[in-house]
Amino acid sequence: MIIKLLTGERSYSMAAYFDTLSDEKSDHPSAIVDDSVKLVQALRKHFLGFIMFVYVSPFLRHYIPFFKSKADDLLLNLRFINKRLDEIIKRRRQAIENTPLDKPLSNDMLTSVITANTTRDVNHVKTVGGEALNRPMTDSEIRGIILDGFFGGTDTTANTISFVIYYLAHNPDVKKKMIEEIDRIFQGDKIRPITENDFQKLKYCEAIVKEVSRVFTVLPSFTRCINKPDEIAGYKWPAGTVFRINADAIHYNKDYWEDPDKFNPDRWMAEGFESKKFSFLMFGGGLRLCPGRKLAMIELVCLIALLYRNYEIDLVDMNAPLKVISGGLTVCAELLVKIKLKN
Ligand code: HEM
Repeated sequence: MIIKLLTGERSYSMAAYFDTLSDEKSDHPSAIVDDSVKLVQALRKHFLGFIMFVYVSPFLRHYIPFFKSKADDLLLNLRFINKRLDEIIKRRRQAIENTPLDKPLSNDMLTSVITANTTRDVNHVKTVGGEALNRPMTDSEIRGIILDGFFGGTDTTANTISFVIYYLAHNPDVKKKMIEEIDRIFQGDKIRPITENDFQKLKYCEAIVKEVSRVFTVLPSFTRCINKPDEIAGYKWPAGTVFRINADAIHYNKDYWEDPDKFNPDRWMAEGFESKKFSFLMFGGGLRLCPGRKLAMIELVCLIALLYRNYEIDLVDMNAPLKVISGGLTVCAELLVKIKLKN
């Protein structure tokens, strides 16, 4: 989903997954599917491995064979990703050039960043950035933005939907109310595309995403660094101090939340309810607030509606604890579900 939204080009990873599960093969030519899988696998390798360049010193990476071979392999992998992204960017630049000015362009982030500050920019008047940002972006800047989007927008959304499914299975009243909302909006129509208007009405689904993210947030903490000495919480801190913001603890703090231990999506539905400032940190806060938050919410709410209007989804084992691996991100290690077409 994220590859399509960011680049406008589809990824065939679902078709590839289908091919690995079933004797039947998907209808897409295998060369295209394999090609797409190669890129997705390279991205995965990059995201799992790039941390090496943060924590392992250049000396070790350059001179100690174990680290050097790992670092060289990761660099080769990144070169492959860059080459593939460059091809996509080049192709899109060409397509934009070949599109007459009065004809619309495709709706994806790549097209937006290529056309930013050009005659095709839909948003000519800039209010931030000044002269330094008043120029079109280079291919390398565009590549960085797309890679950031892949990184920020993949595991976050995928794990959140897994946690939503788990919490719905364990809270049948919430699930029932959610299905009533979906049925009210779609009136049993299982195929029509979801519109913006539908999305605006799926308020209870949105409340579920927020409540699941409050009680089981996918990014339980993030950091901030001060660039000059400061006094915080009654202590003096030198420049360069890194602070870990414990979103998880804030989400369960009685000062900010009524009955914090209770999973209660209805708290978000109360007339005029707004969480206290910086008490809901699903998407962080302040200047580095997640730039993908609106996209993520649209993806998650629509995905919930798409899944639950068509399928009955239950856990294989209601007694199994939610299996997660906690690193920087809380990852759902396994979630076995039974999926049945609704009649
Ligand atoms: C459920 C989905 C998502 C969650 C829970 C999430 C959460 C977060 C959080 C907590 C941060 C750190 C914010 C801070 O430091 O204050 C962040 C940053 C970021 N997110 Fe997301 N995110 C999600 C989806 C996305 C999507 C879909 C994209 C891109 C399309 C994205 C791109 C980014 C980027 C690029 C940053 C770094 C921003 C910066 O440092 O300035 N995220 N996200």
